[in-house]
Amino acid sequence: MEAPMRPMLDILKKIFPKKTYLGVDIGTTSIKVAELRRENAILELINYGFLESYGHLERLNNALQTSTLKMLDQDIIELLKILVKDSGLKSTDAVASIPAFSAFTTLLEIPIMSQADTARAMQFQAKQYIPLPIAAVTIDWLKVGERTDPQGNKIQQVLLVSVPNEQIQKYKTIFKAAGLNLMSLEIEGLSSARILTDGNKETTLILDIGSRSTSISIAKDGYLKFVGQTDFAGGSLTQTIASGLNIRVRRAEDLKKLRGLQGTGGEYELSTLMLPIMDVIINEAQRVRNNYEKGYTDKVGRVVVSGGGANLIGVIPYIQDQMGLPTTKADPFSRIRYPSTMQPLVSELGPEFTVAIGLGVKLLS
Ligand SMILES: Nc1ncnc2c1ncn2[C@@H]1O[C@H](COP(=O)(O)OP(=O)(O)OP(=O)(O)O)[C@@H](O)[C@H]1O
Ligand SMILES: [Mg+2]
Repeated sequence: MEAPMRPMLDILKKIFPKKTYLGVDIGTTSIKVAELRRENAILELINYGFLESYGHLERLNNALQTSTLKMLDQDIIELLKILVKDSGLKSTDAVASIPAFSAFTTLLEIPIMSQADTARAMQFQAKQYIPLPIAAVTIDWLKVGERTDPQGNKIQQVLLVSVPNEQIQKYKTIFKAAGLNLMSLEIEGLSSARILTDGNKETTLILDIGSRSTSISIAKDGYLKFVGQTDFAGGSLTQTIASGLNIRVRRAEDLKKLRGLQGTGGEYELSTLMLPIMDVIINEAQRVRNNYEKGYTDKVGRVVVSGGGANLIGVIPYIQDQMGLPTTKADPFSRIRYPSTMQPLVSELGPEFTVAIGLGVKLLS
């Protein structure tokens, strides 16, 4: 007597439509929201929103310290409220990301043991590795791999993440004030790793070139293994153009997006200004790669570039040349279903929405 159940289920589906979740990526200069749901095995983007704050560009004019580029909490609340209202989001349940520079992350290798023993070991290890009093941080850990050492001992690799409680409280306050229910928080590298490397056995270096900072994550098969970070990023590129050409930051930002790293003709000067910054970013990525490869006897096989900086014209071939590894632009949309009307936009939106989509997928897995 199974058949009569079906209409009933269909009715229930109509009454209780599929639950959706919001992935909210609060960057230094922008907020992105992706609303996702699961339809059997398929993850689907049903809505998205993107707000950029141009206030930082004005501040860039006289700011030397990158920390002053940050949006203020009150600005974030206002922008979030606008996004929620204007995008017509269905859900208020959200997952948000914490930038790599706000968390302390380290990969530890310990003998394989039970979950409970691993938990105890992590509490103990945390005391040694975290540069803040244990009472001031929230600790999280997850197993990311196993290997056998040269002596034949089985070792587990555990990623230890600690976030200052103050930071967590700040997010809770912001989300509450914006009318959203913050269900979970994670460092942004975890979200990028999930959406860009799940199902891929090749070790990937993810270079997230944002506005204030570049996050470097090494990931494999959906798991984050290693992280690094540099303060050189999209904002530094804009700043170097503005001071090199003695023009206003707003104009420098437009020129950067228009011309990119094209090394010919009248555009040559722009590349000359930007390449040294790109080289600093790439050198840091190489350093992280070397540390990972030496420490964990594994090789990085490819590079994926995300963040708004991935849209800089010419940046993908440049990074590929310098790193000597196959390099592509992040394409999180290839992992999900999305409205067909978005097709012309996904190539450019992909790198910018990587974290938001990775977050949205978290609660659906
Ligand atoms: N087409 C483009 N060409 C060059 N740069 C671009 C382009 N589009 C966006 N950017 C740059 O990308 C940066 C913003 O990227 P993104 O949205 O990932 O940053 P964010 O997440 O707000 O910042 P962060 O991650 O540092 O907190 C800005 O510096 C912007 O100038
Ligand atoms: Mg970002």
